[in-house]
Amino acid sequence: MVLDQKYVTGVVWQDFQHQELMTLIAKLRKARADKQDKDAFRFAIAFLAMYVNHHFKLEEEYMDIYYYPEKESHKKEHREYVKTLKEFRLKHQDYSEEAIDELMKKINQWILNHIFGDDKQLGLHILNAEK
Ligand SMILES: [Fe+2]
Ligand SMILES: [Fe+2]
Repeated sequence: MVLDQKYVTGVVWQDFQHQELMTLIAKLRKARADKQDKDAFRFAIAFLAMYVNHHFKLEEEYMDIYYYPEKESHKKEHREYVKTLKEFRLKHQDYSEEAIDELMKKINQWILNHIFGDDKQLGLHILNAEK
């Protein structure tokens, strides 16, 4: 799955990681279509959580390095997302179509909205700082 042009921030590592996130979500969607086993689902969710943490941390490091003025509200968005994902994992320890549907509806949409809003704004700040 290729990241739609409208989600591109122009910051290479950020776009690369967003692309990876989209690929993970696409894998989960495929797991639903194929009715794959529980282990594949658990692995994909655990990997998503790990990757999200890693990605947020890197963005936050850049916010600090480049004195990003919106860093507090952006970090707060990240924290809320981590919390939502944690709650989701507690609620759905096993594969179910309902779980995938909930993930797609809530979490996938959140990521896309976040990239389109907060992350693009941050990307612009990073690009300007690195000029
Ligand atoms: Fe991001
Ligand atoms: Fe972000």
